[in-house]
Amino acid sequence: MADPRPVPIPAKLMAGHIPTHVGVVMDGNGRWAQRRGLPRTDGHGAGEEALVDTTYGALAMGIKALTVYAFSTENWRRPVDEVRYLMNFNRSLLERRQHELHEVGIRITFSGRRDWRVPRGVLRRMEEASALTKDNTAMTLNIAFNYGGRAEIVDAVKQLVADGLSANKVDERAIAERLYHPELPDPDLVVRTSGEYRISNFLMWENAYSELVFTDVLWPDFRREDLYEAVGEYQQRERRFGGLET
Ligand code: IPE
Ligand code: IPE
Ligand code: MG
Repeated sequence: MADPRPVPIPAKLMAGHIPTHVGVVMDGNGRWAQRRGLPRTDGHGAGEEALVDTTYGALAMGIKALTVYAFSTENWRRPVDEVRYLMNFNRSLLERRQHELHEVGIRITFSGRRDWRVPRGVLRRMEEASALTKDNTAMTLNIAFNYGGRAEIVDAVKQLVADGLSANKVDERAIAERLYHPELPDPDLVVRTSGEYRISNFLMWENAYSELVFTDVLWPDFRREDLYEAVGEYQQRERRFGGLET
């Protein structure tokens, strides 16, 4: 399926360097709904259009991986009805969208714990979407679901122990290789919506040197134009990785 809303990429961005991997903390759904006098869950539903449009925008720009934070290991603390809504919503979103994403060459992957709290029907859809799209190469859409950055590091360390690594073999590479998606490069850019200035346990290991861009736009209002703007800001930054200016 062709891009349903092709929007020209600003020339200044095409000329600059495009980030390889972008992370997005999709925040502000509840406030978006509450401002309209709607139940919070309507905000999650309205976030689907934002996600799909942002994904097409990322693909059009030549971004190779987009990791989106859909449900955190801390989001289980929310009221049971909201959690249930989010589980059903994410399952149905995959049902609705996996084929169109597949047709444009997107590989869908997931980061997070597939533990007993995630309903079987959701796990099945996740497996189906991964299997359907596994050979696609245009871009990876990595959905962080039941994801926590600390949990990811704990899981990597558990794997280290299970692999029988001795202490002198434990280094950054040994941990990085055991993260959920070691094949993805660290994010160059992480965008958080809704005017919150925190990481909230997103990609704790991988974000060590990511550029952070915060916007007041609430997630359901976010469109690829907002992504283009965030990338524009990223292109103004100077990354030093602890070294000196070049
Ligand atoms: C982000 O929106 C979506 C999830 C955390 C699942 P929120 O639901 O956190 O919206 P606000 O922050 O309460 O507005
Ligand atoms: C982060 O948003 C998690 C997701 C977007 C899925 P939260 O709304 O859960 O984060 P806090 O609680 O404001 O830090
Ligand atoms: Mg929030």
